[in-house]
Amino acid sequence: MKYLIGGNRKMNKTNADIAEYMQQFFALYQDQDLVDIALCPQMPSLSYTSTFLPKGSVVLGAQNMHYEETGAFTGETSPLLLNELGCKYSIIGHSERRTLFGEDATLINKKLASCIAHGMRPILCIGETLEQRDAGETEAVLTKQFTEATQWIDCTKLDVAYEPVWSIGTGKIPTMPEIEAMHTLIRTLLNNEESRILYGGSSNDQNAAEILTLNNVNGFLVWGASLDPKKFTTMISAIVSKLMK
Ligand code: PGA
Repeated sequence: MKYLIGGNRKMNKTNADIAEYMQQFFALYQDQDLVDIALCPQMPSLSYTSTFLPKGSVVLGAQNMHYEETGAFTGETSPLLLNELGCKYSIIGHSERRTLFGEDATLINKKLASCIAHGMRPILCIGETLEQRDAGETEAVLTKQFTEATQWIDCTKLDVAYEPVWSIGTGKIPTMPEIEAMHTLIRTLLNNEESRILYGGSSNDQNAAEILTLNNVNGFLVWGASLDPKKFTTMISAIVSKLMK
């Protein structure tokens, strides 16, 4: 299986920053065909970012999309435009979209269907809050979020990111056995062997190699460490080394 790492830029980096980043990134990165790399900048920077991408394993992804192609949806982005800009992936259902922008399971389900129908691969994010974890509800929460989001969806056409909400941007991560148990649960829910299951939540250049030893971890979805080309390329190298063993 080809692994996947997504760099979720969130609301960071101007075009001037991107120019500098891409120069540093390509000074450190050697193209390879073991890992797909999805760079997910802010929407207005998709086009600019694409000008730096040679044909190869580094591709564009969106952080979000609307499910309709056209219409009166002020501030939203059409999958047709994402297609035109060359996006191969879209992150769907990130916890920040769920909590800050009120996205519910029905909406996430529609976005997944539309993303797939437009030939892009969704990276579906699921994860528990600290309260849910403390209440011992993690497995139930992941199962509910996954099942509701993927109703009527061909799960071979998507990848999943397990992102514990309390771990995002905090430097805290679950224990290795906890990560492995949740990824194994997600593999069972997916009921296929080809979807990549990414770990997301304070993954970085220091912990990537250890997390990659776990069963059913097939890459990462990264914010903080992805903003630094050195850290991000170190994570890519960790995946390549693991797959070459
Ligand atoms: P982090 O963010 O890598 O900074 O924890 C991950 C994410 O929100 O996708």
